[in-house]
Amino acid sequence: MVNPRFSILSEDFAVDPYRCFAQLRDQAPVHYEPAIDSYFLSRHPDVKRVLTDHEAFTTQTLQVRAEPVMRGPVLAQMTGAEHTAKRKIVVRAFTGQALQDQIRAIHANAAELIAPFLPRGRLDLVNDFGRPLAVRVTLDVLGLDKKDWQQVSAWHSGVAEFITSIVLTPERRRHCMDCAEQLEAYLVPVIQERRRHPGEDLISRLCTAEFDGIAMSDREVTALIINVLAAATEPADKTLALLFKHLIDHPEQMAQVRQDPALLPAAIAETLRYTPPVQLIPRQAERDAVFADGTVPAGAVVFCMVGAANRDPDAFADPDAFDIHRPDLGTARSFTAAAQHLAFGTGLHQCVGAAFARAEIETVAAMLLSLLDQVRHAPGFGYRETGLYTRGPASLHVDFTPARRAPAPH
Ligand code: HEM
Repeated sequence: MVNPRFSILSEDFAVDPYRCFAQLRDQAPVHYEPAIDSYFLSRHPDVKRVLTDHEAFTTQTLQVRAEPVMRGPVLAQMTGAEHTAKRKIVVRAFTGQALQDQIRAIHANAAELIAPFLPRGRLDLVNDFGRPLAVRVTLDVLGLDKKDWQQVSAWHSGVAEFITSIVLTPERRRHCMDCAEQLEAYLVPVIQERRRHPGEDLISRLCTAEFDGIAMSDREVTALIINVLAAATEPADKTLALLFKHLIDHPEQMAQVRQDPALLPAAIAETLRYTPPVQLIPRQAERDAVFADGTVPAGAVVFCMVGAANRDPDAFADPDAFDIHRPDLGTARSFTAAAQHLAFGTGLHQCVGAAFARAEIETVAAMLLSLLDQVRHAPGFGYRETGLYTRGPASLHVDFTPARRAPAPH
């Protein structure tokens, strides 16, 4: 029996949610959280059902959770022909030839950022490297000026805080809204300029694309830019840090990946399964929905617990072990609609950036592994993860022996 006082909002859960997942799946797979009047589902089949039954569970809740800071409707709120058309524009900017060009830019950004740390033999993989890298890479794809990355990153943090907070004080809400308004004010002149002089970047494509013969308004383009900015940066930098954390903690698997870099995609897929950076996906029940262990009433907010679903023994054998060789991983399909893990969601709104994320993390991890020998936790470093909605290491201080190689040109 789950302790009746158990709460997903408790400090205990925040410190290590993974400790609670088995009990939740077994004893309270439809967990009600009265303080926020929401339901939390933890079993793999239940989460999959919610994410694929688009009639019964909608993304209506994003109108309150995301739209105010996105300054307009985001992709995940759209349905039907509008969703298909706009999703296609975004997908095209992240796949095919565009992806090949971006891999070169990712490589160049990573090489520039890592260079000053090489002689030191020490860095914080999250704050010194992964986070600035993810923002700079996304700015490149969007076609925004990289010199503004710190300012854009600060505004983006406010937007992300709004979307990913379970409870938000009025002061923090005001701060998040200020960030969103300033980001919008920064973007509008860029959009107007791209309408006059379009290039190859995503903002230009959004400005010149038409839906039903009509170009998108500044507001629609702004919302899609902020949507991509928020969706692309946070999970990517968290996945990179988590990949290194797991490989450092499993030195035999680190050695295997170093020896055979073709194992990197499996290591990334297993990282996404084992510790998905997006832990919660919200939906709204359109009608009463009956699950094996309880009913979610019509109109209720439902949170899909991706971390718990990915550790469900009904979906993966020995789910609490990190194992890049697990037979049920299915590396190739892990980045597609057929993935068994739910780190990219599933159904209509499954991540559009999965292939890009794989290419980005693979490129950067391969470079880091070749430049940093004997990567290990820095002495005295205390590992800590933060976040209920998106979750990752607060920092990852590592020591390493610099390899006597410069980053290979890409
Ligand atoms: C490891 C990295 C990533 C993870 C774990 C991740 C995770 C997710 C998840 C769980 C969803 C589903 C949300 C829902 O169903 O409501 C999603 C949607 C989305 N992701 Fe990602 N994401 C990653 C990287 C990216 C990147 C690099 C982009 C860049 C374009 C991106 C863009 C999007 C967009 C635009 C959506 C909304 C799609 C729609 O509603 O049709 N993501 N992502």
